[in-house]
Amino acid sequence: MKIRECREQDLELLETCKPSPGRTRRHAIRFDRQQRGLSTYLTAWVDGLPAGTGEILWSGCAAPEVHQIYSRCPELNGLDVWPAERQSQGIGTAVIRAAEARTYDRGYHQIGLGVTDDNPRAAALYLRLGYQETGCLYLDRYYYLDDHGHRHDVADPARFLVKQLQARQLEPGNPPPPAL
Ligand SMILES: CC(C)(COP(=O)(O)OP(=O)(O)OC[C@H]1O[C@@H](n2cnc3c(N)ncnc32)[C@H](O)[C@@H]1OP(=O)(O)O)[C@@H](O)C(=O)NCCC(=O)NCCS
Repeated sequence: MKIRECREQDLELLETCKPSPGRTRRHAIRFDRQQRGLSTYLTAWVDGLPAGTGEILWSGCAAPEVHQIYSRCPELNGLDVWPAERQSQGIGTAVIRAAEARTYDRGYHQIGLGVTDDNPRAAALYLRLGYQETGCLYLDRYYYLDDHGHRHDVADPARFLVKQLQARQLEPGNPPPPAL
């Protein structure tokens, strides 16, 4: 498995392997944010095909309930692993660790992520990986464009978790950090 930043030439294959709903073009939107320096769009590759994503939003969670408290905390968003048979094989964990490493390397000492109330399995994974409850509840608002181009707004109840990044996180293929 390889994890790297998204490239423009990946977008078509990403859209084929993990189609956005309707006319949304989610991967292109994230790539555009990366091009503008607002995010880093990580992609996981297995056997030459994209199998997962995660986007680090450098200015943090957009939800005002979170942003007013965690304005200096980058957010890992858009975590996804596909197809379903590829889940539970460590790809999500690898994307999370890659995001943590990049965040630490940029000088941040914490990273956050949101998890919706209907996703206890993802929440359990994050807690296992060292993310901590903050008590910060919010509505995860996003939209998609349906096949006719009509916008649908969604607001899912969610909570914000934060992990303190103590040292350079390991990524597959990287040597261990020198002993202190
Ligand atoms: C949530 C999600 C991103 C996690 O990614 P993942 O690749 O499935 O996660 P991992 O494989 O790293 O870890 C998850 C599980 O696999 C287990 N696991 C990890 N590596 C493993 C391995 N090598 N062999 C067997 N099991 C393994 C973990 O213990 C964990 O157990 P669980 O299934 O009981 O939770 C993914 O499941 C997903 O895309 N879900 C749908 C979208 C979603 O919910 N996104 C998150 C929004 S907040």
